[in-house]
Amino acid sequence: MVTGASSGIGAATARRLAEAGFHVFLAARRVDRIEALASEIGGTAVATDVTSTDSVAALAAAVGPRLDVLVNNAGGAFGSSSVAEAEAEDWRQMYEVNVIGLMQVTRALLPALLASGAGAIVNVGSTAGRIAYEGGAGYTAAKHGTQVVTETLRLELWDQPVRVMEIAPGMVKTDEFALVRFGGDADKAAAVYQGVEEPLVADDIADAIAWMVTRPAHVNIDSLVIKPRAQAAQHKVHRVTD
Ligand SMILES: NC(=O)c1ccc[n+]([C@@H]2O[C@H](COP(=O)([O-])OP(=O)(O)OC[C@H]3O[C@@H](n4cnc5c(N)ncnc54)[C@H](OP(=O)(O)O)[C@@H]3O)[C@@H](O)[C@H]2O)c1
Repeated sequence: MVTGASSGIGAATARRLAEAGFHVFLAARRVDRIEALASEIGGTAVATDVTSTDSVAALAAAVGPRLDVLVNNAGGAFGSSSVAEAEAEDWRQMYEVNVIGLMQVTRALLPALLASGAGAIVNVGSTAGRIAYEGGAGYTAAKHGTQVVTETLRLELWDQPVRVMEIAPGMVKTDEFALVRFGGDADKAAAVYQGVEEPLVADDIADAIAWMVTRPAHVNIDSLVIKPRAQAAQHKVHRVTD
């Protein structure tokens, strides 16, 4: 199961997992996109809004009694205001999708993951869940939430046959992430990656997720921080300007 499989990291992960031999369930709101990808990779599309309890219940019903892998990837950043000028609705939405949505999907699919006997959960966090940066507080708070929920779940499931892992990417150049964050402003979105000759791309993260879930069942990759070589730290990015 890959949530947020309609674009970017989620779509690339669905492809990678299908290549690895999994039957992939693809969840997202844009059903046309997940249906197209599902037919390409032989998977199953399930229209889902992870923030809706009813929608997530329908997702669990579609999956059935057994699930081997859950990739909680649906998420994103909305806005980049300072705390002084924060939009409460943006903050609510970020918490809804990155934390509550992840919880709802996990809660609903946990019985099926346990029934697998060797379940694996990968939560897609972010380096934003490790640090702070100006204008990022709504997103960094939400992604710190993703990290802490992951750690808590691992403690709670310590005697159960399910791995609980997190991947925390730095700068990944996907088609929509920055565009969504800046409300469709293409110039602002392009500026994020300006001069970075080789940012990570969605498939780099998908490759890492596929590696994590295909380790033997006793190997738990607690946390994998993954950044482009050009990003030594959140604020220290090598950009080539002419
Ligand atoms: N790009 C980066 O630099 C970066 C870095 C670190 C972490 N991340 C994290 O990686 C994940 C994927 O990011 P991306 O770069 O691939 O961005 P993206 O292309 O914008 O993908 C976001 C995905 O989440 C889905 N989604 C959003 N809200 C949803 C909801 N309520 N219910 C179901 N699905 C929902 C979207 O699908 P629909 O709109 O069709 O529902 C879309 O498929 C996110 O969790 C993001 O925070 C990204």
